[in-house]
Amino acid sequence: MTAQARSRIPGAVPETPVSSGKLNVERIRADFPILKLNVAGRPLVYLDNAASSQMPQPVIDRLVRYQTEQHANIHRGVHYLSETATAAYEESRRKIQHFINAREDREVIFTSGTTEAVNLVMHGFGRKFLTAGDEVILTTLEHHSNIVPWQMLRDEKGIKIRVVPINDAGEFLIDEYEKLFNERTRFVGVMHVSNALGTVNPVKAMIAYAHARGVPVLVDGAQAAPHLKVDVQDLDCDFYAFSGHKLCGPTGIGILYGKAVQLERMQPFKGGGDMILSVSFEKTAYNAIPYKFEAGTPPIAAAIGLGAAVDYLLALGMDAIATHEHELLEYATAQVSGMPGVRIVGTARHKSAVLSFTIAGVHPHDVGTLLNQDGVAVRTGHHCAQPVMQRFSIPATSRASFAFYNTMGEVDALVAGIRNVQKVFG
Ligand code: ALA
Repeated sequence: MTAQARSRIPGAVPETPVSSGKLNVERIRADFPILKLNVAGRPLVYLDNAASSQMPQPVIDRLVRYQTEQHANIHRGVHYLSETATAAYEESRRKIQHFINAREDREVIFTSGTTEAVNLVMHGFGRKFLTAGDEVILTTLEHHSNIVPWQMLRDEKGIKIRVVPINDAGEFLIDEYEKLFNERTRFVGVMHVSNALGTVNPVKAMIAYAHARGVPVLVDGAQAAPHLKVDVQDLDCDFYAFSGHKLCGPTGIGILYGKAVQLERMQPFKGGGDMILSVSFEKTAYNAIPYKFEAGTPPIAAAIGLGAAVDYLLALGMDAIATHEHELLEYATAQVSGMPGVRIVGTARHKSAVLSFTIAGVHPHDVGTLLNQDGVAVRTGHHCAQPVMQRFSIPATSRASFAFYNTMGEVDALVAGIRNVQKVFG
């Protein structure tokens, strides 16, 4: 029977995960064992994907295959297993190169996640090239991981941090950004998609403006890579960071993309094995990129798992993923914005997959606790973006964040859960 014929049978799960450019979400959900869980006696409604997404069976299977048939240390042995593991690890690097359209595979560095990637840039670029009085531009929207490393550099070197404000919708103000540039501007760090509000920033225009003034740009893509097609050559960013566990891969693995010309002139971040060509007590010669930045035994299994995750996403198609998630966000926004006492925080014109909200008279932690009793998982708190909360004069929000495997029915469960919260709190 064809997939088309099968999908006409009421209740049948389509055979193919994508047809005519649209996701067959029920079919896709069958790939995710964890989505079959019940929580508090209700089917799990997992809406905490911005914190971490779930892993499909093909990625789990790839990890199991690696551990059962292929594991050894990489780049260090001439024996079968070491060569097999090395080949799989380097193949994963090429998959990620393809995923973000990097020019060369040596521009893809495995890190432990976005946080380590930003720290690598601060240590490798910032500590080498920035001096007292130099200025780094960040935005109000940044996650702490793209604020604190630069504050550490400020405390060490006396650099200055300038912050681009946002408007009441949570949109980045490009005019204000342009006004912050001066002859001491040396670096820009910006997030592609806000984890707290979902705002999609105009990073391509920001990069072009910075480059016209000779200023390099780091993009924190942790919340963009799982949801949008990322093309680092088209963006022309100098650095792009993202995490594996937010795009259906393992924890403990992430990526720093860097233009080869930047990576080559940077200093290493961590010293140790594999990042050297030769060592004596008098002098050490560093390895070529990307190895210069991959000291020690890396998380090999996680890196290979991330390659499998990227394969999975590409088979679905990033455009189809973005379209479905946009529909979920529109549907959720329409429902929640009509609810008395509920305020959506973050109403930018360009948003991705995140719905942050507050309920009058109820602390977000209570919202999260009550939703959990309905099986609905959301994140509550400041989302590691306290400056965003300060901007809106609130301590915290509740945040539903969507992935391609979420359904309209799950949005309905969220809305019913919010109604219940309001009922409980009178
Ligand atoms: N940065 C992650 C989040 O937004 C953990 O939840």
